[in-house]
Amino acid sequence: MTPQEVAVLDYGSQYSQLIVRRVRELGFVSHLYPPAELPNLKSPGAIILSGGPRSTSEKDAPDVDFEKLMSFGVPVLGVCYGMQLLNIKHGGTVKPGVTREYGPAKLVVTDHEDLFSGISHESQVWMSHSDTCANLASTTQVIATNEDAVPVALKWSDRCWGIQFHPEVTHSHEGTAILKNFLTKSGAKLAAFDINAFKAQMLERIKAEVGSREVICGVSGGVDSTVLAVLLAKAGVKVRCIFIDTGMMRLNEAAEVKMLFDEVGVPIEQIDASAIFLGALKGVTDPEQKRRIIGTLFVEEFWKVADNVELLAQGTLYPDVIESATSGSIASKIKTHHNRVDRIMELKEQGKVLEPLAELFKDEVRALGASLGIPHRALWRHPFPGPGLAVRIPGEITAERVAITQQADAIFIGELRRSGWYEQTWQAYAALLPVKTVGVKGDERSYEQAISLRAVISEDAMTADWVELPYSVLRNASNQILNRVKGVNRVLYDISTKPPASIEWE
Ligand code: XMP
Repeated sequence: MTPQEVAVLDYGSQYSQLIVRRVRELGFVSHLYPPAELPNLKSPGAIILSGGPRSTSEKDAPDVDFEKLMSFGVPVLGVCYGMQLLNIKHGGTVKPGVTREYGPAKLVVTDHEDLFSGISHESQVWMSHSDTCANLASTTQVIATNEDAVPVALKWSDRCWGIQFHPEVTHSHEGTAILKNFLTKSGAKLAAFDINAFKAQMLERIKAEVGSREVICGVSGGVDSTVLAVLLAKAGVKVRCIFIDTGMMRLNEAAEVKMLFDEVGVPIEQIDASAIFLGALKGVTDPEQKRRIIGTLFVEEFWKVADNVELLAQGTLYPDVIESATSGSIASKIKTHHNRVDRIMELKEQGKVLEPLAELFKDEVRALGASLGIPHRALWRHPFPGPGLAVRIPGEITAERVAITQQADAIFIGELRRSGWYEQTWQAYAALLPVKTVGVKGDERSYEQAISLRAVISEDAMTADWVELPYSVLRNASNQILNRVKGVNRVLYDISTKPPASIEWE
């Protein structure tokens, strides 16, 4: 029999695509499907039912066609909601919970066969549920409990298991090993995941979806939009790549982006809108007002070029999709400003938005980029905020203050690259403080500006820690900035964690 994919049925958990990603990480082909697609699955080698926010006791709770599920004759794993559903189908019951159990919990393994082979007797797992499996069918085997001896992992047959916790999140310390056991010790015949085959499939899908339409793609020099643009070009569709220079980019950014795209053989159109942006920001010091002006102008400038767009391509990744779908917070609105504005929602409704990266996570985008021939340097650039240096220049933004920030930033980043620290930091930059300080230059008193350097590590930008850079790296960066950047006589290193500070200054 030819090896086959791992089909993940999506019952609406925030983590559903994370299961797919873990399966790919473990080296197997996997896709996410709505539960209603179950009868149409062509070649599942194993099936995972995800968690979900609903309760099986609700009248219209999402269901599973159990007969069809079992008819494939392949290993099945139910996670959280998926486990509860399977327990009911096997003749057990589910008890609606009054409170939600959310967070770390202890897994106590009572059977170290198959699913828990090689797993510690006790380990930490991540729970997020309120309902629990109550009565179990007589044939059900309890293979693990929590510390109160409540069953949290069940085995119904040699091919069917359920777990109450989420193995896909890193807080479940041995979660990946448990998933690996499911995939490798259950007798599943699975296809190996190969990034080149994945890329070929993506190119085919894009070609089919775009047809003869022209695609417009905004590029920023960041990882996601670069991979997207190259992917579209390699798919052979008609594409226009637009780069808008807000004047608040890193030093020589426009030229570097041009060089990068020349190197990968994709033409781009660059629009220098720096005078427009700087003009609109004249005299503005309020951080939120600055953001609003930049966001609005960016969209306006982009639509000047993209007005009669047939298809708009966006480098939206899976975490963006989840964030904008599940969170209405101001923070997520700010972050999604550029790709979820009203005009774009309108285009989406008309079927004119293409988001080929929407099922991928950042590291998968990088792997795809590498297989498309994008240079390593471009794929491992630090993230850069949409409003650019504006959020790193508290106070008024002027061409002169932007120039000082750019020079100091280029020196700092250059030093990080030279010393090998660039890829060990998640994000780093120089900010210009809205303060002048007294110093001595030559034999004379100086009264000049202060630069603050920031280097952080983070996983998802929600929290961040400052990097303990060696003194020699800080000293070299500081010396060069003080000697070479006119108008600066003081350099500081920012040692604030997030929270309470944010990564950017504004
Ligand atoms: P903060 O300052 O909120 O930043 O700790 C977290 C991460 O988000 C980036 N950032 C933005 N990215 N548009 C963006 O595309 C924005 O308006 C924006 N504001 C902050 C920031 O660089 C950091 O990586």
